[in-house]
Amino acid sequence: MLFELSEEHLMIQKAARDFAQNELKPGVIERDELQKFPTEQIKKLGELGFLGMMVDPKYGGGGMDAISYVLAMEEISKVDASCSVVMSVNNSLVCWGLEYFGTEEQKQKYLVPLAKGEIIGAFCLSEPEAGSDATSQRTTGIDMGDHYLVNGTKNWITNGNSASVYLVMVQTNVELGHKGINCLILEKGMEGFVVGPKENKMGIRASDTHSLMFSNVKVPKANRIGEEGFGFKFAMKVLSGGRIGIASQALGIASGAYELALAYSKERKAFGKEICKHQAIQFKLADMATRIEASRLMCLKAAWMKDQHMNFDQASAMAKVFASETAMWVTTEAVQVHGGYGYVKEYHVERLMRDAKITQIYEGTSEVQRIVISRSVLA
Ligand code: CAA
Repeated sequence: MLFELSEEHLMIQKAARDFAQNELKPGVIERDELQKFPTEQIKKLGELGFLGMMVDPKYGGGGMDAISYVLAMEEISKVDASCSVVMSVNNSLVCWGLEYFGTEEQKQKYLVPLAKGEIIGAFCLSEPEAGSDATSQRTTGIDMGDHYLVNGTKNWITNGNSASVYLVMVQTNVELGHKGINCLILEKGMEGFVVGPKENKMGIRASDTHSLMFSNVKVPKANRIGEEGFGFKFAMKVLSGGRIGIASQALGIASGAYELALAYSKERKAFGKEICKHQAIQFKLADMATRIEASRLMCLKAAWMKDQHMNFDQASAMAKVFASETAMWVTTEAVQVHGGYGYVKEYHVERLMRDAKITQIYEGTSEVQRIVISRSVLA
């Protein structure tokens, strides 16, 4: 068993770290405060190949492995989780879904510009009454022969306004339950497709999260992904990979907060010495470092299993639940280490603490991950 990263992995990690420090750090507080989508930064991320990292180069991607993706996600998320969620959704949910399950025509038309980062995509499963209970889709797609007529509402959609391409789950046959769900590719600008108002969120405030409304949107049959009724399985398979991305985001948020707390503890003095010389702080740092290391190993293992084409459903759910709970705990402790300074915006840790929370919610709550894990261990 080798724990060493290859030269290529180290290069990708460094490129992501440099980008995060040089291009994302300046302005990250302001973008969060103003809920300003990082348009320029996302464009540059695309130019560097970070928006279609794992896609085959013949479709415009970077041809990298999932390990590289974890490394890059950690570095970007250390600094700006609003950017890394855009990266995660585009890479794992949209590009991977299209590459593995799309037709050649869909790949040429949609995957190529998505993988090159010329456009970004969104994944639309959640609805006002279908969050964790994802089979309860109310958005309908009536079969009209050569097209589907789509009606309904999607909620909390990442990249809701900035995306050009949307993978939308619709119910085409209620009687069949989840076997009647299909995934359709919608384009922004299709008649009857309206982007709703932006959500005013606690964290990842610079990412644009919107509801979407569909009123008699005509979607060609050629835009369905997979066989009739494949939509729910498609969503589950894609989300399983997506959970590696969000676990890595959580890992990055935690390690970003830890690095700040570590540095601060060496500078700040109290009771006559640097606070890192007090055991109360040392124990916190030790626990942070240990939980982060465990999260990192779990993310890398899930990614390795994906690269080996093994079933990684359990590994990705374990990585996500552990890393997201670690992120929440570490960021809270990082604020504590900073004391009063941690509670104000310029020290970054309060933002990381707010950002950490969403990693326990999206792409399956911690409770959903425990459902996936318990079913797997009991099978
Ligand atoms: N791969 C393939 N098929 C799978 C699968 C997987 N990983 N997981 C489930 N399935 C199949 C099952 O085998 C079953 O098929 P059959 O009936 O043919 O046997 C079918 O899907 C239904 O599965 P379940 O019976 O397990 O379904 P359930 O209703 O019990 O739900 C659940 C299971 C795990 C709770 C699931 O609903 C779930 O994952 N919910 C959370 C959804 C989620 O993650 N939402 C996030 C929204 S997207 C997002 O956040 C993106 C963003 O913007 C950042």
